[in-house]
Amino acid sequence: MIVLGIETSCDETAAAVVEAGPKILSSVVASQDDVHGRFGGVVPELASRRHLEAVLPVVRRALDGAGLGLDAIEGVAVTHGPGLVGSLLVGCSVAKAIAWARRLPLVGVNHLEGHIYAAFLEGPAPSFPFLALVVSGGHTALYLARAPREYQCIGQTRDDAAGEAFDKVAKLLGLGYPGGPVIERIARAGDARAIVFPSAQMSDGAPDFSFSGLKTAVALHVRRHGPLEPARVADVAASFQDRVVKMLVRKTVKAAQALSIGRVVLTGGVAANAALRAALAAECAARGWELFVPPRALCTDNAAMIAAAGHDRLCAGERAPLTLNAVPDLALA
Ligand code: KG4
Ligand code: ZN
Repeated sequence: MIVLGIETSCDETAAAVVEAGPKILSSVVASQDDVHGRFGGVVPELASRRHLEAVLPVVRRALDGAGLGLDAIEGVAVTHGPGLVGSLLVGCSVAKAIAWARRLPLVGVNHLEGHIYAAFLEGPAPSFPFLALVVSGGHTALYLARAPREYQCIGQTRDDAAGEAFDKVAKLLGLGYPGGPVIERIARAGDARAIVFPSAQMSDGAPDFSFSGLKTAVALHVRRHGPLEPARVADVAASFQDRVVKMLVRKTVKAAQALSIGRVVLTGGVAANAALRAALAAECAARGWELFVPPRALCTDNAAMIAAAGHDRLCAGERAPLTLNAVPDLALA
C-alpha cells in the first residue's frame, strides 16, 4: 500500500509518501522556526495560520518527490492528536478532503505512535515487545509496546516535557528557539560538572519524570550569577543537559529492568540529542540490550513516521470516518 502521511500537530508542516516496508518514498518537512523564534516558543494561532499556507505546497512537494500523482496514493494517514487544536485541524481537513475526493481509506494516527514508528523506517526494525522512551517538546513518556498497536504507559512527566525544559532553559540563557539543538551545540564547549543541578526523585518511587525543578534551579542560578559570560553559559548548558540525560537514562534503564525487557526504542525530538543517544547506547550495550534510535531527522517531527504508523493501521483494516476530528489531548495508552 502507498500511503500519504500528513503531520501538522505543532510547528512543523510535513507530508510524506511511504510504501510497504515501511519504506520512505519522500518526506518533506517545512519548519516554522522563523515564525516562532522571536517569541521563544510556539504561538498556537501563528502556527495554524502558517500550516494553512504551507500544507498544500508541502503535500505537492511530497508527491513530486516520490514521483507520484494523487492517483497512485492508496491511503491517507493524518495526525489527529495530541497537539495544538488549530494546527491539527489543518492537517485533518486536508487529509479528509483528499480521502473524500479520491475515495481513499483514511486513518487517524496518534502523534506519539508516529514517533515510535520512526524506529521502523530505517535500519533493523525492533521486534515486540519493546520499551519506548518518547521524549519530545510536548511529551516525555515510557511506553511498553507489547504488540503492534498495543501500548501501555509505564511512566511519564508530571510537569514539563524534556524538550520543553530545553526550550525554556535556552530562553533563560538568551540562546533562542528551538532550545534543544542550540543547547546541545553550546554544551560541547562547557563543563558538565561545573554546576550540580538537582535531579528529581519520585517520593512514591514511580517511573515518572519531572523537569520543572531543574528548570527552576537553572533560572535561580542565572538570576544569582547573571549576566553570564559565554564560557559560563556553556557550563550551565552542559550541566543542565547532563542532568536531563541522566534522568532520562536512569528511569529508562530502571523501567526496562523492572519489565525484564532488553529491547529499547529512543525517539522524539530530544532523541536527536547526541549526548542522550550516546548515554543510552552505553547503558544498553553494557547490559547486552538492543537499542533502536531513528536517524536524527526522523526523531524530530516528520510525516514519514505518521505514514508508517498509518500504513500499519490501514493494513490491519482500520478506517477513520470523515467525521475524524482533532483531539488535542489524545492519549496513546
Ligand atoms: O518531537 P518534536 O520535533 O516535536 C514535538 O512533538 O514536540 O520535538 C521537539 C523538541 C523541542 O523541544 C526541541 O528543543 C527538542 O525536541 N530537540 C532537542 C534537540 N533537537 C530537538 N532537544 C535536545 N537536543 C536536540 N538536539
Ligand atoms: Zn513530536
